[in-house]
Amino acid sequence: MAKWTANDIPDLGGRAAVVTGANSGLGYETALALARHGANVVMACRDEGRGTEAVERLRAEAPDASVELSLLDLADLTSVRKFAESYAGERDHLDILVNNAGVMALAERRQTADGFEMQFGTNHLGHYALTGLLLPQLQARPGSRVVSVTSFGHKVGRMNFDDLQWERSYRKWLAYGRSKLANILFTFELDRRARAGGSAVVAAVAHPGYANTNLQSGTSFQWSNFMAQSAAEGALPQLYAATAPDVQGGEFFGPSGFMEQRGAPKRVKAAKKGYDAASASRLWELSEQLTGVTYSFG
Ligand SMILES: NC(=O)c1ccc[n+]([C@@H]2O[C@H](COP(=O)([O-])OP(=O)(O)OC[C@H]3O[C@@H](n4cnc5c(N)ncnc54)[C@H](OP(=O)(O)O)[C@@H]3O)[C@@H](O)[C@H]2O)c1
Repeated sequence: MAKWTANDIPDLGGRAAVVTGANSGLGYETALALARHGANVVMACRDEGRGTEAVERLRAEAPDASVELSLLDLADLTSVRKFAESYAGERDHLDILVNNAGVMALAERRQTADGFEMQFGTNHLGHYALTGLLLPQLQARPGSRVVSVTSFGHKVGRMNFDDLQWERSYRKWLAYGRSKLANILFTFELDRRARAGGSAVVAAVAHPGYANTNLQSGTSFQWSNFMAQSAAEGALPQLYAATAPDVQGGEFFGPSGFMEQRGAPKRVKAAKKGYDAASASRLWELSEQLTGVTYSFG
């Protein structure tokens, strides 16, 4: 995949895609690149104003794009169910789901509408529920992709099942790290369960390195600017995972440059704890209980 760029994305005519958090940063660039290559893209955004503005911006950049806005708040399971019902009401298939939306290092412990810690609830549980609810449409297309977006920050994450949702003590970066480790465990477990259940869904995970987006501008954690790449560059690993023909279930993609912070996509390795199958299975069962969403493979 030497120096793979968005120009290498194959023709996606006739393919349906959903990108969460598509109104800004990596999600916007992912929606734009998929649409430019012919996919019909649902931009799943939580705010109608920001979502509408993004759809208009995208159509101005790519006048032939087939895109639409659909409201989705991952921090509210009622909204996740409504989104999935509305999707199923309009389409019978889904080729590419990019679980991209995320919140990072919130200063105070906050909760989702369902009482989950906000980063775990939004970044992991919301996407767990969304993927499970869209599984019938994904399984209608053999080889459909579920791409989850994690972070290098997963390396500081730890699954403490005794206090998964930080009720006893809250550490904002560790909470982010846990949610991003959960994205990796979820992907590998989805891959295992899909294979075991005879499903042809391909689950892959990607991280962008460091990219200049709203996520980074809102925190005190700043790499020097020369390290940062554009959002379009940061989106390449997830675009590779979502579209390159040679992607296999359970693979992980990130930038190829210094410390995986920038550069063209390549296959990368997660921290060892990302491959802990017992932890992944426990997380899956808990996610099932907490969200009430059960996957049926086949
Ligand atoms: N930028 C980086 O260097 C970097 C590094 C590692 C990992 N990542 C990961 O990349 C992904 C995209 O982040 P980004 O850098 O592109 O940041 P961003 O520009 O802040 O985009 C995040 C997106 O997620 C949406 N979102 C947040 N909470 C949501 C919710 N409850 N329901 C639905 N959408 C929600 C945001 O919507 P609003 O605009 O309405 O807030 C926004 O569209 C995240 O998963 C992040 O963890 C980014």
